[in-house]
Amino acid sequence: MMASSFVRELLQLIAFALPIVQPCSAASLYSTYKFNPLEHLGGVAPYFEPQDPPASPSSPQGCTTERAVYLSRHAAIYANDYDFEEYIDPFVSKLENNTVVDWTKVPELSFLAGWTAPMSDAEQELLTRVGRLEASQLGVTLSFRYPNLKLPSRVWTSSAERTVKSAESFVRGLEQDDNEMNVVSIYESEEAGANSLTPYKSCPAYSSSFGSDQSAVYLEKFTKPIMARLNAMAPGFNFTANDVYGMMELCGYESVIRGSSPFCDTDLFSPDDWLGWEYTADIMYHYNVGYGNQISGVVGLPWFNASANVLMADSTDQQDMFVSFTHRELPPMVFVAMGLFNNSAFGGSEAAINDTMPLDRINYLRAWKSSHVLPFMSNLAIERLNCSGSYGYDDGDYYRVLVNSAPQPLPDCADGPGTSCSRAGFETYVQDRATLFQGYSDKCGVDYDNSTDVYSIYTDPAAGNGTLVGKRYEAFKYRIEE
Ligand SMILES: *[C@@H]1O[C@H](CO)[C@@H](O)[C@H](O)[C@H]1NC(C)=O
Ligand SMILES: *[C@@H]1O[C@H](CO)[C@@H](O)[C@H](O)[C@H]1NC(C)=O
Ligand SMILES: *[C@@H]1O[C@H](CO)[C@@H](O)[C@H](O)[C@H]1NC(C)=O
Ligand SMILES: *[C@@H]1O[C@H](CO)[C@@H](O)[C@H](O)[C@H]1NC(C)=O
Ligand SMILES: *[C@@H]1O[C@H](CO)[C@@H](O)[C@H](O)[C@H]1NC(C)=O
Ligand SMILES: *[C@@H]1O[C@H](CO)[C@@H](O)[C@H](O)[C@H]1NC(C)=O
Ligand SMILES: *[C@@H]1O[C@H](CO)[C@@H](O)[C@H](O)[C@H]1NC(C)=O
Ligand SMILES: *[C@@H]1O[C@H](CO)[C@@H](O)[C@H](O)[C@H]1NC(C)=O
Repeated sequence: MMASSFVRELLQLIAFALPIVQPCSAASLYSTYKFNPLEHLGGVAPYFEPQDPPASPSSPQGCTTERAVYLSRHAAIYANDYDFEEYIDPFVSKLENNTVVDWTKVPELSFLAGWTAPMSDAEQELLTRVGRLEASQLGVTLSFRYPNLKLPSRVWTSSAERTVKSAESFVRGLEQDDNEMNVVSIYESEEAGANSLTPYKSCPAYSSSFGSDQSAVYLEKFTKPIMARLNAMAPGFNFTANDVYGMMELCGYESVIRGSSPFCDTDLFSPDDWLGWEYTADIMYHYNVGYGNQISGVVGLPWFNASANVLMADSTDQQDMFVSFTHRELPPMVFVAMGLFNNSAFGGSEAAINDTMPLDRINYLRAWKSSHVLPFMSNLAIERLNCSGSYGYDDGDYYRVLVNSAPQPLPDCADGPGTSCSRAGFETYVQDRATLFQGYSDKCGVDYDNSTDVYSIYTDPAAGNGTLVGKRYEAFKYRIEE
């Protein structure tokens, strides 16, 4: 059902200023089961807000936000190069070469007779129109969420085109007039130590292939019956596990390019099929950038530590909002540094963390769900709240975390109103996390001699002031002025 309603949902999101009140229903005699594949597509999911947990994103009673720090993944792109080369292109090229199957005779796949790939080799990695919309939408969201905060004069981004374009679209959504905010591009160096928005690239102990062996185990398991079914429907095409994974991935990519995708049809892939796809991705992210990789928290800590410092600082001449854009790797590593989405949080032991992601069956009750924590445009916020007259709590500053607008309590720091935590509690929490994960250069085994363990981009003048972003594209502006 969902493919065709994607654009409608996006428009609803844009009208999100209106509170949506869900009717509460009594136990139903008839089925109310609903399933949207676009909410189970891990890193290929279009931006959505799972409201997990359903705590209110509004500030707690008596509190107003006086400063906020954001870390956002870039918005929707045509295709990630690895996904394109590994899964999508081989399937598409096999399809183009196909002379064996007459698709018009295969009901569930008849659309393949006239289907063409939505992206070209040259478009890989570029933002789609939906991506630009997602990024502008975040800008508008922050203007609604923080009507009293100064607009930032600088926004930071790693230097890839898709992150820079996301930052620029975000600025266009947030600024009131032309040319009010600068975008500062931070070079994606492999020798920047912890001082970049891509610190995993400067960390030799991190490898982008971590997790592929483990996720391959579940990939084989969940695709086996799907392959058998497709090969029975369309004998001779020889669907492989990677073809199946790529077709399901195309549901996400094609949706953010064309607004819908026939691959999202739940008659083609059932809800259980999608949950298998999602779990395969979650295993990969667990071992790659999550709790299953010892270096994740080490790489994520410097951003968290610096952001906590900037939030707790006294100075008022600084910005109120600190927003930065990066790639999919960094936010999950920061979650680990912060202790968020830990499958073992309530009781498991540290040593048993890998047991929470078995490779032969789905742990449905896991906290680590990539679809929830790293869809396109996924964003983490840490807020400093000024609370006075919050019944039952002292006046003062409190700290709160939101991921994709859902409040996330910090484990072991729950002494404030709502999901927030007191200043003293937060200070101790940050120190405890730093004790666990400090020592970036050492633990990464850096092989260059000018490394640093500290993220200093917010305050270091060497990062520069960046470039102004106008609301209009230059060519257009020029024409109007003529
Ligand atoms: C499709 O055909 C082209 C040209 O003959 C060939 O280079 C390519 O390897 C084929 N692709 C597949 C997946 O068979
Ligand atoms: C180390 O030097 C390289 C090459 O000049 C540079 O790209 C990198 O940013 C430097 N690292 C730090 C932490 O200053
Ligand atoms: C599918 O596999 C069969 C048996 O291995 C082989 O004969 C056939 O050529 C393959 N078809 C394609 C389209 O690769
Ligand atoms: C964390 O911040 C403190 C306070 O500025 C600083 O002294 C320390 O070096 C930082 N540690 C890391 C690992 O970033
Ligand atoms: C995850 O939770 C367990 C249980 O509370 C804890 O022992 C472990 O240190 C946590 N992991 C991280 C990286 O915070
Ligand atoms: C989890 O598995 C990874 C990959 O095998 C390993 O490096 C890591 O040490 C394991 N974690 C724990 C806590 O055993
Ligand atoms: C916090 O809010 C109170 C009441 O509105 C105000 O008097 C106080 O100055 C604020 N504190 C800060 C640090 O902004
Ligand atoms: C950045 O802006 C600040 C404040 O406006 C100014 O003092 C500084 O010289 C500027 N830096 C650069 C590199 O232009």
